[in-house]
Formats: sequence, structure tokens, C-alpha cells
Amino acid sequence: ASKASGKVTWQTPSNIALVKYWGKKNPQLPENTSISFTLSNCHTTTTLTYGKRKDLRGTYDFKVVLDGKEQEDFKPKIETFFKRIEKYVPFLREYHFVIDTKNSFPHSSGIASSASGMSAIALCLMSIEKEININLTEEAFYKKASFLARLGSGSACRSVKGDIVVWGEHENIEGSSDLYGVPYVDGVAAVFKNYQDTILLIDKGEKQVSSTVGHNLMHGHPFAAQRFIQAQENINKIKDIFANSDVDKFIELVESEALTLHAMMMTSNPYFILMKPNTLQVINEVWAYRKKTGSKLCFTLDAGANVHLLYPESEKEPVQEFIKNKLSVYCKDQSYIHDCVGTGAKQL
Ligand code: PMV
Repeated sequence: ASKASGKVTWQTPSNIALVKYWGKKNPQLPENTSISFTLSNCHTTTTLTYGKRKDLRGTYDFKVVLDGKEQEDFKPKIETFFKRIEKYVPFLREYHFVIDTKNSFPHSSGIASSASGMSAIALCLMSIEKEININLTEEAFYKKASFLARLGSGSACRSVKGDIVVWGEHENIEGSSDLYGVPYVDGVAAVFKNYQDTILLIDKGEKQVSSTVGHNLMHGHPFAAQRFIQAQENINKIKDIFANSDVDKFIELVESEALTLHAMMMTSNPYFILMKPNTLQVINEVWAYRKKTGSKLCFTLDAGANVHLLYPESEKEPVQEFIKNKLSVYCKDQSYIHDCVGTGAKQL
């Protein structure tokens, strides 16, 4: 039987895709396989407080608190999330919830909080389920948490468990599924296990185009079919790259994926551009730095203007010096965040 009331806290990471998810169907299944590095320092901490409702009329009963302040703005997104997951979480209407959440990164920094935010709620709900269903195995717990997180935000299913996570069925990745993310357990050379990611905050403003709208513009997109084939092939390539410690091929693949993602945006109908002038300045600086020094520094982008700089841990010192001296001028308020590959969500 379920408890009358309780409280549970999860800390969940953000993630950065190497092979990008862009395009989805009915309503949260990916058109192609994606793979990401889990981050460590960029995370969300969510406490879910729950109590049995006396009055079960009406729909869900919940409140969202961000950084100590009640937030009405997030309610519709969570309402949609709850509607999608209700059939898998039968106790959802039995409780009133307070979702109390904070991010380790600045609010509206342009760092997507939906991946870490949605996976945190999913894991909190799974902790309640675990009290009811005490026989749930650890594997089933995390699979279902990822399954639920996906229904909140696709990329959130890659923010549950593992340092490198695959989402979307792929013929060469055993256990991969469109329904949830799975830790990537094929061979990964040591260099990629502790890769660094410095996020340059180029533009802190609201994105003009949401990722939901962007995904939907892949329907009827002239290059969509070819893009989805390319992503599947890039998963094969990245498997070899990981196994063979091939950092040069990694750079080529990851930068191409980032630019292809933005090329899809620029060639959709309607078209749009999320990069800013400083995004391009940074890209050119990275290329010049690589040429000059032989560094293995490369960039990737998500659906916004910010730049993720990826590099091996062995280059931490010179690259971070380069970022401070040369690249910080392109950031809003000179702000950037040093991060690295992490291991996944933690219950606190
Ligand atoms: O999870 P969503 O719907 O916000 O989509 C995220 C899409 C990208 O960040 C651009 C790529 C990815 O795979 O994370």
C-alpha cells in the first residue's frame, strides 16, 4: 500500500548530445538514435513532497516552486507531462504534490533545464512507486524512470543513469530502445571517460524557437530522411571512435553533428537561426587554436547560441587558460561553466 505522505529528493544531471536527437513522432519517439555525455556540475535538485488528497475531484493537484518561489509558468508543461504519464503512474491523482526545484546553473542561462528537470520529477515519482512495488529491481526502476522522463522531454531520458547514454533503437547497440535511454556499455577508451565540457554562455535570453517547434519542423523537411540515415551511421562511427580512442575522428563527427543540427533549422519551413554572431566567433577561434597548437579542443551546440567546448582532461590547463583569456569576451557577462562527464542521477 502507498504511504499517506512523504518526501523524496533527487539530483539529476544535464547532458550534451554528441549525435543529436532532432525530429520526433507520436508524440515523444525519436526519429533517430542519439548519444550523449552526462554532465556533472550542471544539475537540478528536486524535492517532491506528497500527501494523499481528500478531495479527488479535478485533475492533478500540484504546485511548482523554483528557487523558493512558486512558479505558475511551468505548470502547463508539467500538466502535459502528467497527462502523458498518468497511465503508467496510477497514483498520480491520489496525491497532492509540491515540486520544489533548483538548478546549479543560473536561471535562464540558456542551458536547457528540461532534461535535468524532467528526469528529476520522473525519478521522484519512481521513488514513490518503489514504496508501493517493493519488488521492483534496480534495472526496472531506472528503465521506467527514463521512460517517464522521455515523456516530459525527449533528451531527459538520457539524464538518468550512465556516463554515456544512448536513446533510440539501433541495430548495433544491444538493448537500445526508442522508449528509454540506456547506459552505453560497449568499449569506451579512457580518454572519453573523463572528457571535459566548458559551456560558454553566449546568449542568456529566451530562445525564439522552442525545441518542440523545431522537432516538429522535421515533418516534411526536405532533408529529414537523409538526416535520420546519417545519424544512424554516425552512431556506428562513434562506436568505433570510442573503442579506438580516435580523438581526431571524434572532433570531426561531433562538430559535423552540431552544424548539421543547425543546418536543419536553417533549412526548415519556416527557417530560423539560433546561433549568434559570437557563436561563430567562438567556432572560428576554436579552429584557429586547433590549427596553431595541435589541441584536440572541439565544439558542439544544442538548440541555442551557447557553445559546449569538449576536450580531453589532459588539456585542461591550457584550454581553460585559452577560454579565460581569449573566449570569455564572447560570453554574456564573461560567463562560462566548467563541467565534465558525470555518472548520472543521485538520490539525496
Ligand atoms: O529534449 P528536447 O525536446 O528539448 O530536445 C533536445 C534537442 C537537442 O538538445 C537539440 C539535441 C539533443 O539530442 O539533446
